Amino acid sequence: MFKFRQDTIEKNAILLLVLTVITVAIGGIVEIVPLFTIETTVEHVKGIRPYSPLELAGRNIYVREGCYLCHSQQIRTLKDEVERYGHYSLAAESMYDRPFQWGSKRIGPDLARVGGKYSSDWHYGHLNYPQSLVPESLMPRYAFLAATRLDYGLIERHMATQRLLGVPYTDAEIANARQDLLAQANAQDDQDALVKRYPKAVAVPGQPGFPSEMDALVAYLQVLGTMVDFADVGVEKLQQ
Ligand code: HEC
Repeated sequence: MFKFRQDTIEKNAILLLVLTVITVAIGGIVEIVPLFTIETTVEHVKGIRPYSPLELAGRNIYVREGCYLCHSQQIRTLKDEVERYGHYSLAAESMYDRPFQWGSKRIGPDLARVGGKYSSDWHYGHLNYPQSLVPESLMPRYAFLAATRLDYGLIERHMATQRLLGVPYTDAEIANARQDLLAQANAQDDQDALVKRYPKAVAVPGQPGFPSEMDALVAYLQVLGTMVDFADVGVEKLQQ
């Protein structure tokens, strides 16, 4: 009996197609529908905040320069990855990344937790001339970034666009964008207002009056992976 039905289905292309679509649709519905009913598929984790204006500008440089062609920002759950790079990446850690920087291309190491691993001075030196610090490095030089003034004329609009996409920038954060950006680009400046709005933002030792593209990039690198405090508590306890 079963054999007869199978033969009938396999010999009738239309019937086979219809039944295949129905079967796949059931599988799809079972997987997708629950996602509509829970508030969000990404669990909120304490500490995750939108990027500061300078970090956001630095992130744009990172994307523009194609750093992702050699660097992923996604630590897998595998033991060797966790031992090398630290706690595996949480979905929440890239919830404000538009576009996200995951990936599998690793000509250089993963950068998801590079923040705080080196001093900002190290990053300036490394981006200027990687081989001066890591002689066998095949990373290209980015010295021109230090000589290029950061164009932040559209920063408020950029933040507003991100907000449109779901990044919760407040009106005050957008209104103070330039002030915060310039403060973070010059470690000599008062950082209180900036750090209040963007906890753990790292001020970089840029030249006063000349915020460079490299300042922005280093501020971005220094925050990567530092927002969540993994010290001795499980991720479950960090959820709000
Ligand atoms: C052609 C591939 C390539 C490109 C493009 C590239 N890198 Fe690298 N990067 C490497 C390699 C290889 C290393 C490891 C050797 C070293 O430290 O220089 C590295 C190392 C690094 C490190 C140190 C990581 C660590 O944990 O030690 C940082 C930070 C970094 N790159 C940032 C960047 C940024 C930012 C860009 C874009 C402006 C970039 N890289 C573009 C190949 C690349």
